[in-house]
Amino acid sequence: MLAGLRTQFVARNIVSKPQVDSTNELAKRLAARRVPEGTLVIAEEQRAGKGRRGRRWLAPPGTSLLMSYIFYPRLEPREATRLTMAASWAAAEAIEQVTGLEVRLKWPNDILVQGKKAGGVLTETGITGERLDYAVVGIGLNVNFHMADLPELADTATSLMEALGGSVSRLELLWAFSSHLEEAYGSEGDFSGIQSKWAARLETLGKPVQIDVGDRKINGLAEAVDENGALQLRTADDSRIVVSIGEVS
Ligand code: BTN
Repeated sequence: MLAGLRTQFVARNIVSKPQVDSTNELAKRLAARRVPEGTLVIAEEQRAGKGRRGRRWLAPPGTSLLMSYIFYPRLEPREATRLTMAASWAAAEAIEQVTGLEVRLKWPNDILVQGKKAGGVLTETGITGERLDYAVVGIGLNVNFHMADLPELADTATSLMEALGGSVSRLELLWAFSSHLEEAYGSEGDFSGIQSKWAARLETLGKPVQIDVGDRKINGLAEAVDENGALQLRTADDSRIVVSIGEVS
């Protein structure tokens, strides 16, 4: 199975399960035991897949990529958002490489194909005091199912098979994704080169947006993102507001 994997450490240790509650939950338990950096936890089915903002993440069993990577990055807790940027960028690169489909990113973590959501990223961290103990980067990619199999999501989501009109090699996608994630890790393990690569794929920049922050909505023109992915908005009264990825959860 490992033939075709071109990485040094990302996905070199793999925990593969037919069914789990959530790969993020299993990865957090493994991270607490200090399994090797870059460990990949992958499952064919999740009984309780988690999306952002307390939502569920759904995928028909055996069709998609449901996975979490474990890192011990040299970052402050507030910088862990870089892993979300890295994973969504890596997903875009891998999908384009394997399928030829054009991929755009929607701030902060949506992976869009043909204007619909084909994947998402949920990063969770373990923090002690001011220190980041570990980061678990969870990625869900909709690969080989028809949206008719998940009709409740058909208005807003798509799968690569639906968009391409044919099935996609999940293994090829997995190895391509793992390579790009390792590329984004950087020589110091601080994911420092990710800002411009990620920003170049963001369809959000230059557009008017509405951001939900807790029970509030902020409207403005999306002008720029900083090194941790925070979005700079210019509001109607010409003031500037900065919304961090972490705030919108
Ligand atoms: C989102 O867009 O809301 C984020 C979705 C993240 C889903 C993935 S699937 C694998 C990993 N395990 C989980 O429980 N969630 C993430």
